[in-house]
Amino acid sequence: MPINSRLARLAENPFSRLTGLLAGIEPRLNEPPIVMSVGEPQHETPPLVARIIAEGAALWNRYPPYFGTPEYRAACAAWLARRYRLPDGMITPERHVLALSGTKEGLFQLGLLAVPENKAGKPAAVLFPNPYYLVYAGGALAHGAEAVALDATAASGFLPDLDAIRPDILARAALFYLCAPANPQGAVADLAYLRKAIKLARDWDFVLAVDECYCEIYDRAPPTGALEACLALGGDLRNVLVFHSLSKRSNAAGLRCGFVAGDPDLIARFQQLRSYGGAQVPLPLQHAATALWNDEAHVEPNRALYRRKLDIAEAELGGRFGFYRPPGGFFLWLDVADGEQAAKRLWREAALRTLPGAFTASGQGSDNPGRRYIRVALVHDEATVEIGMRRLAQVLG
Ligand SMILES: Cc1ncc(COP(=O)(O)O)c(C=O)c1O
Repeated sequence: MPINSRLARLAENPFSRLTGLLAGIEPRLNEPPIVMSVGEPQHETPPLVARIIAEGAALWNRYPPYFGTPEYRAACAAWLARRYRLPDGMITPERHVLALSGTKEGLFQLGLLAVPENKAGKPAAVLFPNPYYLVYAGGALAHGAEAVALDATAASGFLPDLDAIRPDILARAALFYLCAPANPQGAVADLAYLRKAIKLARDWDFVLAVDECYCEIYDRAPPTGALEACLALGGDLRNVLVFHSLSKRSNAAGLRCGFVAGDPDLIARFQQLRSYGGAQVPLPLQHAATALWNDEAHVEPNRALYRRKLDIAEAELGGRFGFYRPPGGFFLWLDVADGEQAAKRLWREAALRTLPGAFTASGQGSDNPGRRYIRVALVHDEATVEIGMRRLAQVLG
C-alpha cells in the first residue's frame, strides 16, 4: 500500500531506541528502578485541576472552540504580560494567542504552516538546535523540508551559534525552532541572542518559533523571553511565535494544555489551518488550564523544589561528569565520555534509567554532539533524586 514516503525520513523515537538498547539487560541491583530518562514531572498537580474538571461535568457534550475559549486566551495573554513585563495591548487574546492541546502538536503542525514548496527557488530548510526535541525534526521532515540541525555544544554555550549559519542556509530557511531554556542542556538565551535571532528571521524572512516550555523552571534568574526581545526591538511581533505549556510549569502534562502566541498574521493563518485539523482542548480542561495560568501561587514552590534537587545533584556529582547547574529546565546533561555505554551500565548495575545524549541528537559517531552525554531528568521527589544521584556516582564514579 503506498503511504507518505516522507515518514521514512523520521528517525526512531529516542525512548523506543532506549527500550531497544536496554532490552535483555536485567538490573543486578535488587532495588526499585528509577526512571530518569523521561521529562515527566512527578510533582503534585495543583488540586484545583481535579476540582474544576469535576465541576465541568456538564460540558463533555460540547465541542470546545478550537482556538481556545475567550477566558483561556485572556489568561494566556495576561500571563505573558506579567511574566515578560509587556505593555498593555502588545498581546491581545483575539489576535495574538491560540490554544494548543499541549505544545507538541502545535510545534509539529507549525511545519505545515511554515514550510513552502520551496524558498528562493530551492528546497526549503527547517533549522533547529542539535541536540533537539524530537518534534522539531518531525516538523521539518514530515512537511517536506530539509532538516538542518545546528550544533549546540559547550563551545557555543549550548545554543546554536547564530553567526555560524551559512547565508545559503538562511536563504532557504522557512522555519527556525529555538528551544530556550534548552532541552536537554538547560541553556538560556539572553536578550542579545534573542534579538539577533529575531533580526535574522526578519532579514531572511523565516518563522522563528521559540519553544519556551521550560521558562518557569529556573535556578536563579527568570529566563528572558522572545517577546521581551520583540519589545526591545520596538514591539513588533513580525516573524516570531512563542510556545508555552502547562506540562512543566504546573506539573500538568496530562492536561494537554499550552498555547502559541506572537505575529498576528501567522496566528491568523494558524487559526485557519487549525480549523481544519487542530486538536481541541475539552472545555473542562480549558477551564482548569485557565485557572492555572491565572495562578502564580503554585509555581514558586515548584521552582524551589527543583532548586533543592539541583542542590542534591550538585552535592553528589559536583566536580565530576562536567556537572553544571542548568540555568533553566530540570535536566542534567552529564559528560560521561560514552552516553550509550553509561546508560547501559547504569541500568545493569544500578537500575537507573537515563537517556543517552546521542538519542536526542543527530549525526553519526563523533559528528553526534550528544554522544558523550547522558540526559538525567530530575523529575522525582527529593529522596528519590538523592538515591538516583548516589547510584549514578557509584557506578560511573
Ligand atoms: C522542549 C520541549 N518542547 C515541547 C514539549 C512538549 O510539551 P507539551 O506537549 O506537554 O506541552 C516538551 C516535552 O517534553 C519539550 O521537552
